[in-house]
Amino acid sequence: MDNLLTNGRYRELIRHYRLDEPIYVTRPRMPSLEAYGDCLKHIWDTKWLTNNGLYHREFEKKLSRYLGVEHLNLFVNGTIALLVALQALRINSGEVITTPFTFPASTHVLHWNRVRPVFCDIDPKTYNIDPNKIEKLITPDTKAILGVHVYGTPCDVEAIQTLANRHGLHVIYDAAHAFGVKIGDRSILEYGDLSAMSFHATKLFTSIEGGALVSRTKVQAERIYYLKNFGIAGEETVIGPGINGKMNEFQAAFGLLELDIVDQEMRARRERTLLYRERLADVPGITVMQDMPNVTHNYGYFPILVDPAKYGCSRDELHDVFRACNIITRKYFYPLCSTYPCYSILPSAHKQNLEIAERISLQVLCLPLYGDLSRDTIEVICHIVRNLT
Ligand SMILES: Cc1ncc(COP(=O)(O)O)c(C=O)c1O
Repeated sequence: MDNLLTNGRYRELIRHYRLDEPIYVTRPRMPSLEAYGDCLKHIWDTKWLTNNGLYHREFEKKLSRYLGVEHLNLFVNGTIALLVALQALRINSGEVITTPFTFPASTHVLHWNRVRPVFCDIDPKTYNIDPNKIEKLITPDTKAILGVHVYGTPCDVEAIQTLANRHGLHVIYDAAHAFGVKIGDRSILEYGDLSAMSFHATKLFTSIEGGALVSRTKVQAERIYYLKNFGIAGEETVIGPGINGKMNEFQAAFGLLELDIVDQEMRARRERTLLYRERLADVPGITVMQDMPNVTHNYGYFPILVDPAKYGCSRDELHDVFRACNIITRKYFYPLCSTYPCYSILPSAHKQNLEIAERISLQVLCLPLYGDLSRDTIEVICHIVRNLT
């Protein structure tokens, strides 16, 4: 890399395009400060800070309606929602088949529930768990399949459900990236047993930190409610070993206001995605993702793949040039979860079982994408990609 950054031609490019202010991979669309101030005033006046307050109740109701789901429990963050998803299904031993190409939380929640992750390779087009490779990993210890809708691209939900039905397995989705995504008219959150969402500040839709768990039945939703509230079912009744996963009023009020602006944010991100796609369409060695038929995408991320043999330099080199230009791209998801020291000794973590995931993790780079990102900045980013090699 030293060579690339010290090479005169690249130095010239970096000098020319270096931005004064950093451009991050994402930024949240902020609700009106005045409106949030009104919410803060209400919180101050009522002194109701958490525990199913007014904003929590309102947010849960409006969010369910917006997403088109019936049973939704809010959470303090997406990781606790995932952790509770496994507890809700009583999965606390054995194995769960999952993807290595994801954020650490998706795998860590298995470990925290004393479940062994079994890594399955991914599909080269969607970058999601490949259903064709799941069946050979199923053993008598397998309890569930945990898919992740990476970048909001739906997993092959029908194929996964068919496999799960055939083998009597649960299906959990990490839908942290999949806010508002639909297949036909149906929310992506309506597939599988449970779907966990994240509303972290880096997400398309945010409640500062936050999350939700979407379930199929009222009974499940009630169990989840107890599990996220210490197992408390009444003033003097604790029905099981719960945890504290509650969202507070500050988060809920923020989330409520975000609901009014998330459509605008999605539209703005879609426009920027289309511009990126147009500008990068014919760059040899650069692959961009396309929309899938019958899917409503949310345009939360803009990942590209850099094939070094065809492009002329590696993903890491391109990333470093961007950094030198003050453009903060991110290698989501490198390294693979299967390479972390806590999981790399697992038999399923062997590189040769995960060839596609290995390749994609070495080639993927998420470019900046958010509603306020200027078109001029996108032109600069695309110019760097087009002219680096
Ligand atoms: C795929 C995925 N799963 C889980 C999480 C964890 O969510 P949270 O940060 O809300 O705990 C994130 C991101 O933060 C994520 O990207």
